[in-house]
Amino acid sequence: MDFKLTDEQQMLKEMCRSFAENELKPKAEHYDRTHEFPWEHVKKMGEMGLMGVVYPEKYNGAGMDYLSYAIAVEELSRGCASTGVICSAHNSLCLSPIYYFGTEEQKMKYLSRLCTGEWIGCFGITEPEAGSDAAGTKTTAEFKNGRWVLNGTKNFITNGGVANVAVVTAVTEKGIGHKGLSFFIIEKGTPGFSVGKTEDKLGICASSTTELVFDNCEIPEENLLGKKGDGFKIAMHTLDGGRVGIAAQALGIAQAAYDTAKAYAMERKQFGKSIASFQAIQWMIADMATEIEAARLLVYQAANYMNTGERQRYSKYSAMAKLFASETSHRVTHKAIQIHGGYGYVKDYPVERYYRDARITEIYEGTSEIQRLVIASNELKG
Ligand code: CAA
Repeated sequence: MDFKLTDEQQMLKEMCRSFAENELKPKAEHYDRTHEFPWEHVKKMGEMGLMGVVYPEKYNGAGMDYLSYAIAVEELSRGCASTGVICSAHNSLCLSPIYYFGTEEQKMKYLSRLCTGEWIGCFGITEPEAGSDAAGTKTTAEFKNGRWVLNGTKNFITNGGVANVAVVTAVTEKGIGHKGLSFFIIEKGTPGFSVGKTEDKLGICASSTTELVFDNCEIPEENLLGKKGDGFKIAMHTLDGGRVGIAAQALGIAQAAYDTAKAYAMERKQFGKSIASFQAIQWMIADMATEIEAARLLVYQAANYMNTGERQRYSKYSAMAKLFASETSHRVTHKAIQIHGGYGYVKDYPVERYYRDARITEIYEGTSEIQRLVIASNELKG
């Protein structure tokens, strides 16, 4: 497969890298420490077309392809992993189901505002008892007097506290498992819809992770997204795409940690020489560089399969890309701290933040164990 970037992809990469170097990286420590949401970065991403990368121009999107999207998330995450996931969850998890399953009215109403960054989106399938078992949803939606009435709580929702629009699953028919789930669009400010607990996290501290609470929340009939009963399949379709975004985020964090560790190894002197001259450090550098390159090939391959629309292929490859890139990010950030020694363990250097930020990529949008399950079930199909 040829990953030579087109002129448009190369320009996007350079634009995102310059934004990450000049604006995200200098502020990443501040946002990590204060846990403030980086509104200035979101505003700029809207201006740069990064809040609707793959969606058509008629909905105010940038009309680019999935490889461009993966490159954008990778570069953003190199500067600030929180900004990377804000972009990824918004693009892949909220806009994607509206684009693929929404009516033309829903697309015009929601995508046109979400793609510019005027509105931020979130996606709610996770609940206290429905994590890896996404079909274990307890939130209900009953159809009463021509309106849907939602009751229940979603948790660990990325962009939850800042989103203007949430797309969520709810049970519309009890007792039939995943076939009884449907998807809904809920707007901020709808009576009965509120943001619950905000999580205090290990990493990606500037991203908003909250509960969404529905207490007799009434929404119009037309806010059903897709067909009644298709909620689980819409969620799976959405996650197949979303996982490429998280894989790209993991890759960006790994690259940032590697760049920092390599520069440190060349500068730091012990026993009268730079530590990069010792074979113990060289082996770490070699392993880090090799794994990052392998992860990049998998991420770009998965993104290219998404461009072709070959569902079964990209479902498997996006799971492979997320599994490998997130575990690579873990190993690389671990080694980056090791190369820094004691300095890697304190906040004067960014590598301890990279290590904390990388950890979530093995958990959200499906744990590594779920990715292995998805890969194995695709491999073992007749
Ligand atoms: N695309 C379309 N349909 C799919 C599909 C896919 N990728 N995967 C499964 N399906 C269909 C199956 O074909 C089956 O359809 P039929 O009933 O018609 O045969 C149906 O869905 C049920 O499939 P399974 O029996 O395989 O479903 P399961 O209950 O065993 O679960 C699972 C499968 C892969 C474990 C799934 O539950 C899963 O992905 N879990 C992880 C959930 C997850 O990733 N959560 C992350 C939350 S979002 C998040 O983290 C966001 C953030 O913060 C950034």
